[in-house]
Amino acid sequence: MIKLREVSLTYDIGTIFQSTALKNVSLEIRDKEIVSIVGRIGSGKSTLIQLFNGLIPPDSGKVIVDGIDVNAKNTNLKIIRRKVGLVFQYPEEQFFAESVFDEVSFGPKNMGVSGDELVQCVHSALSDVGLNPEIVSNLSPFNLSGGEKRRVAIASIIAMNPDTIVLDEPTSGLDYLNKKMLISYLKRENAKGKTLVFVTHNMEEVLEIADRVIAMKNGEKIFDGPTEDFFFAGNFVELAGLDAPFLVKAQRLMRKRYANFPFCRTVDEFLKLLKEKYS
Ligand SMILES: Nc1ncnc2c1ncn2[C@@H]1O[C@H](COP(=O)(O)OP(=O)(O)OP(=O)(O)O)[C@@H](O)[C@H]1O
Ligand SMILES: [Mg+2]
Repeated sequence: MIKLREVSLTYDIGTIFQSTALKNVSLEIRDKEIVSIVGRIGSGKSTLIQLFNGLIPPDSGKVIVDGIDVNAKNTNLKIIRRKVGLVFQYPEEQFFAESVFDEVSFGPKNMGVSGDELVQCVHSALSDVGLNPEIVSNLSPFNLSGGEKRRVAIASIIAMNPDTIVLDEPTSGLDYLNKKMLISYLKRENAKGKTLVFVTHNMEEVLEIADRVIAMKNGEKIFDGPTEDFFFAGNFVELAGLDAPFLVKAQRLMRKRYANFPFCRTVDEFLKLLKEKYS
């Protein structure tokens, strides 16, 4: 469980670049949830999630992970990062090793895994994200395609087996098939018991997999609730400065006509319903 209590953060205080990224944000991420963080560019999403594992400390307020105050003096951040794994918005920002194997093995190695167990752990993390360990292990992570880089970045986090995986725009820049694969991988991890938090600009993804949505605007949290409410209980999507996807607009129309029209997460679900019950 991750808790933020009245957290605020301003970058470059006292300079002409001063910019307040987070204003008094409180929230909770409960175990085994899938939470999506949405908002326009610059609304504070990436800053927010970097607080979750102590990568940056807030100016005020508290970040608590499983009861541990992340920014307390005596907190061992290694322990926090084993609990909360963060995949960066730009995977290159987290790469440092010369080979994919070294990149993915770094975390588990630091946790004391070695020998055959380490190889097994790296191979299974790479296979989990759809990469062939035999083919990619010796390549430089910097020379991979965008989709492969993102997958290596995710593999390097899952190799540490954190309870919570936090991903910053995991599907941006991926083609349709890669997106689909990643989404189904994330769903699978959640079904195995992992908590997932992901930042995205893609409202279809939110609709498809999120249990809960947190919407940010100008550093403030303006919505926090079930996905269905985000899309249908008002105009929260629009308030956040975002555009509702076609599937939401179509369901809103159907709900005007049929008050009990069920909540559909995918186009296929929606079409099936239209065909079987509303034609
Ligand atoms: N390292 C930094 N130094 C100074 N200002 C920063 C830094 N990182 C972010 N900011 C500023 O803080 C605000 C919030 O940025 P943040 O990156 O958290 O937004 P975001 O919602 O993730 O945006 P995007 O959708 O573009 O990724 C912006 O005004 C941004 O310019
Ligand atoms: Mg961002």
